[in-house]
Amino acid sequence: MNDQHNGRLTREGIRIHDAAEFDGMRRAGRIAAEILDEIAPHVFPGQTTGEIDRIITAMVAAKGAVSATIGYKGYQHGSCISINHVVCHGIPGPKVLKDGDILNIDVTVILNGWFGDTSRMYVAGKLPRKAERLIEVTHDALMLGIEAVRPGATFGDIGHAIQSYVESHRMSVVRDFCGHGLGRVFHAPPNVLHYGRPGTGPVLEEGMFFTIEPMVNLGRPETKTLSDEWTAVTRDKSLSAQFEHSVGVTATGVEIFTLSPAGLFHPTYARDAATPHSTA
Ligand code: MF3
Ligand code: CO
Ligand code: CO
Repeated sequence: MNDQHNGRLTREGIRIHDAAEFDGMRRAGRIAAEILDEIAPHVFPGQTTGEIDRIITAMVAAKGAVSATIGYKGYQHGSCISINHVVCHGIPGPKVLKDGDILNIDVTVILNGWFGDTSRMYVAGKLPRKAERLIEVTHDALMLGIEAVRPGATFGDIGHAIQSYVESHRMSVVRDFCGHGLGRVFHAPPNVLHYGRPGTGPVLEEGMFFTIEPMVNLGRPETKTLSDEWTAVTRDKSLSAQFEHSVGVTATGVEIFTLSPAGLFHPTYARDAATPHSTA
């Protein structure tokens, strides 16, 4: 490893970071979250995913950051945009959003060498009721996973918190994709599974950085990847949702690096946007 990397690795190869490194993640995470806030008014029926991606890519540059996804394993876009039954890694392009489409927008930026990775759900037009339930359960599952983060807990505790909640709502957790360590690299150990048993897996320590990014399906958990070699869809064509935060383990719990500065992360935002004249 090059000497820019301070600190130590656990025996599972998970890097332990110091206070200055938390600050690097805070700044990178904030920019990614701001972009997801600022893209919200650009999501509407008739819009293309390619135009949303073009705006995101311009925002990344305007904030002095670099896209982590452009050039990553040959990927050519500043975001992944995954509509309806697309689970993740949807490729932006000429596809036109229609009323009632739900979509995940996933942005990863690099600022001063630190990676900020976050995604959330949006709706074009009016949010269908069954999609609303899926989105709320997925959001709440992520937040329950984050609540399990503290020194001494295990990665299995995080997965179990997510899986048990999702399955209690008769929805399913995708197994084919997971969260990941990050920091000065995009994807590092460990694999952060969104299912599991309490007390299993590596023990969390202060200074670990990773994402939690559960994908939840209304139907079965199986996915397949399309011939473009990126787009992952549900095999049974059921709706899928995802939320992602980048977090760090603190002495007493967790810090979320990608909180929405405008308070637009929680899906009640999407419901309110669907009824712009509501005073509630
Ligand atoms: N941001 C995604 C993640 O959460 C990774 C996207 S890689 C890409 O890990 F190449 F598809 F953009
Ligand atoms: Co990620
Ligand atoms: Co991501």
